Amino acid sequence: MKILLTGGMGFIGSHTATVLLEAGYEVVIYDNLCNSNASVLDSLETITGKRPSFVKGDIRDLTAMTAALTGIDAVVHFAGLKAVGESVAKPIEYYDNNVHGTLVLLEAMKKTGVKRLIFSSSSTVYGTPTTLPLTEECPTGTPTNPYGRSKLHIEEILADVCISDPDFSAVCLRYFNPIGAHESGLIGENPNGIPNNLLPYVARVASGTLECLRVFGNDYPTPDGTGVRDYIHVMDLAEGHAKALPYVLNHKGWIAINLGCGRGYSVLEVVKAFEKASGRKVPYQIMPRRDGDIAANWADPKRAFELLGWKAERNIDDMCRDSWHYEAKRSGIEA
Ligand code: NAD
Ligand code: UFG
Repeated sequence: MKILLTGGMGFIGSHTATVLLEAGYEVVIYDNLCNSNASVLDSLETITGKRPSFVKGDIRDLTAMTAALTGIDAVVHFAGLKAVGESVAKPIEYYDNNVHGTLVLLEAMKKTGVKRLIFSSSSTVYGTPTTLPLTEECPTGTPTNPYGRSKLHIEEILADVCISDPDFSAVCLRYFNPIGAHESGLIGENPNGIPNNLLPYVARVASGTLECLRVFGNDYPTPDGTGVRDYIHVMDLAEGHAKALPYVLNHKGWIAINLGCGRGYSVLEVVKAFEKASGRKVPYQIMPRRDGDIAANWADPKRAFELLGWKAERNIDDMCRDSWHYEAKRSGIEA
């Protein structure tokens, strides 16, 4: 089976590539490298002993996309822009890259007769939860930013495509909060500039690259007042994609599936777990709430188990250990 990963050089795509290569799939990565580096290919080869094919291209380039899809059995569509704050400042770029990019991909799939797609969606499509845990039956809400709305639009477009073509299969994987890194420490999350997300920020405070964590709000209706999220190890997430592939190949129609652990941790619990994993202090100061943040969300991951036979195996200590290992290598603390 030959699988094309759009955005496969990025954080989640590269970890998924390791699992798919090790499972014996032929992997083609299609990426414009706008948020990743070609050196990931060397790391993938070191980890798996196999080098995936790589096409440098943009998903909005219909000709290149069509050429890359020839002979492909299924697509895993990771490519997209993902910074929430930036999406508020640059909505046109976000809708163009994410929504228009997906439309071009779908056009290329139509031209080449490829009808199997796994899409990187997000728990952000639920908006502000009215009940927890979130099942896939919970109504999608109103995401508070263009990034979140682009995910919801794409899910809806894929549902319409499945209605128009009964042979089409689309699995929307709704990720909760992916963190951690491959246990080798060779690939991980390495955002440019100051990280927006909690874990890369905490890791850089622990390594001394950044001085102090800003905790956004301690007056939420949660046990310690700080925001609660369902953190999931990126390797568990990667394995979820490997389990979703046979499903998408053998089923038709549209479905959404949560990928989360099914329990939440607060910001302060994550800080504590990270201090334990790294043996270093993570100084923090309490700041006002961040615009657009919700108090808490976590998944009901039952559907993923029932349909895919998948459940997360790694806990918060594993996530922090592997994040720290990657950060220690990245910052030169560890060779
Ligand atoms: P990432 O930025 O590390 O990876 C995305 C990859 O897509 C990058 O390698 C980038 O170069 C590539 N890319 C972007 N636009 C492209 C284009 N027009 N053409 C070709 N390649 C392009 O992000 P990630 O964390 O690996 O996220 C992967 C997907 O999962 C994204 O769609 C993201 O929205 C989604 N997602 C991520 C999270 C998260 O917290 N990381 C949570 C929910 C959903
Ligand atoms: N937080 C801090 N300080 C920071 C960064 C984050 O206190 O420096 C807090 C946030 O307020 C929140 C929690 O840590 O309570 C998690 O925040 P993240 O920015 O790491 O993650 P979000 O839940 O806001 O969003 C992430 C991705 C989205 C994705 C969503 C659900 O950024 O793209 O998870 O998958 F949609």
